[in-house]
Amino acid sequence: MGVVLESAALPAASFQMNYLFDDDLHLFRRENTGEFAYSDGAESEARLLNVVLNAKDRSTFSPALAEAITDWVSEYHFSKSRHCLVRPLGIQAGDKVLELGCGCGPITRFLGELGANLVGVEGSLVRARVAAERCREFGNVRVVVDNLFRFETDEQFDCVLLIGVLEYAAMFSTEENPFERLVQSASRFLSPGGRLVVAIENKLGLKYFNGCYEDHVGAAFFGVQDLYGARTPRTFGRRELIDLLSTAGLKHTYFYYPFPDYKLPVAILSEDALMDGDFDPVDLLTRCHARDYTGFPYRSFDDALVLSSLHRNGLIADLSNSFLVEATRDPKPPGHKSTLAAAYAVQRKPELAAQTRFSRARSTIQVSKEYVVSGASHRAVTVGGKTIAHDLADAEYRPGRQILWNLLKARARNANVEDIVQALLPWFDFLLQHAQVSSPQVAVGPPTLASYMHRLHPVQLAR
Ligand SMILES: C[S@@+](CC[C@H](N)C(=O)[O-])C[C@H]1O[C@@H](n2cnc3c(N)ncnc32)[C@H](O)[C@@H]1O
Repeated sequence: MGVVLESAALPAASFQMNYLFDDDLHLFRRENTGEFAYSDGAESEARLLNVVLNAKDRSTFSPALAEAITDWVSEYHFSKSRHCLVRPLGIQAGDKVLELGCGCGPITRFLGELGANLVGVEGSLVRARVAAERCREFGNVRVVVDNLFRFETDEQFDCVLLIGVLEYAAMFSTEENPFERLVQSASRFLSPGGRLVVAIENKLGLKYFNGCYEDHVGAAFFGVQDLYGARTPRTFGRRELIDLLSTAGLKHTYFYYPFPDYKLPVAILSEDALMDGDFDPVDLLTRCHARDYTGFPYRSFDDALVLSSLHRNGLIADLSNSFLVEATRDPKPPGHKSTLAAAYAVQRKPELAAQTRFSRARSTIQVSKEYVVSGASHRAVTVGGKTIAHDLADAEYRPGRQILWNLLKARARNANVEDIVQALLPWFDFLLQHAQVSSPQVAVGPPTLASYMHRLHPVQLAR
């Protein structure tokens, strides 16, 4: 998988003035690489490096990396869902991309596979090493160890990425307005017409009103009460983020809303999706329940049920748990996006992984399904030796609610078992209509719910 270029293709000259290339570590660094105060823990990061070094397959869909997920740190770095975030950006082979704060490289690796001509900058040497090892086979990826505020190059880029990085600005700059300074620092590398892409949590995200602890400081209602300190990580509300980008000279923004968040996105809505009267995004978000990454389990409400009212009141954008925003100096032509939304089914065997895209085409909305791993057979053999084929077909867009909604509502109403069965009746009916009945017990007469009840639910239904 991926594009393997000759190392000779590296346009490294622009780095040689300020950085030396460390052959062993396969990265660029300054003569004296200083300490950098960002870490997921020395032991955890050493393990990440070991897993990568021992993996023959270091690709985005590597089974070895997926199998090494044992906790949140390893999930964040090895989950197949991570890369979905950048899919809507349409980055292509040959595009010049600068990824600032590339960490241990899950996004770096995916863009390397796409064939982007990528420079990843990372302040922490150990994290940069993981990213560099992950991409060692690619001549189109270079990793540099440096504080992004000090990073130097005379290259310019079509796209500068800040994925989970802006919020740490105050920890690595002593300036008065570190967040504004960071946006300015990042945008000095943009080519004319280039875009800065920021992925960040929303301090007013619905999950935070629902009891989830703030992702960076691990405390309840921290961001919503604006308790951030001068040198702590901090996130912003949507309007604050627009103002920050605008103050730094990026006056034009286009937002995407990743659900449940930008870290492990399952569905991503575009700004256009929320303004398109024919498109109902709510159903897509039903299974996007937000996670509390500290493990705090209690919630006040079912976030999926709330989204429906939020959408009717135009509030999804402001209460989205995360933002993915493209910011430019000059306006982009209106209507330049046709994709309204995308949903990703990647937590399965790579050959069966797929994305569903909803696109506006004049008066219709088209639903197209695509495999995300090219060149695979799109067949998988199960443990029992059966072959599953995943044949994808495009479909007509039909707005509506899944039957799952009835179940969620029944649960939120503290329904009893009968009510839950009642909520599922349309599904049972569908199954019964399509079932091939072979049992003599039910073959007499048309199948009814009652005749199947004891098979469908093993517990005592009647009270
Ligand atoms: C939350 S991690 C995200 C990593 C990566 N972007 C990803 O999505 O997997 C933030 C990363 O940004 C790096 N970082 C934060 N501020 C930085 C700075 N001023 N210079 C260089 N790296 C920075 C941290 O060291 C860390 O690896």
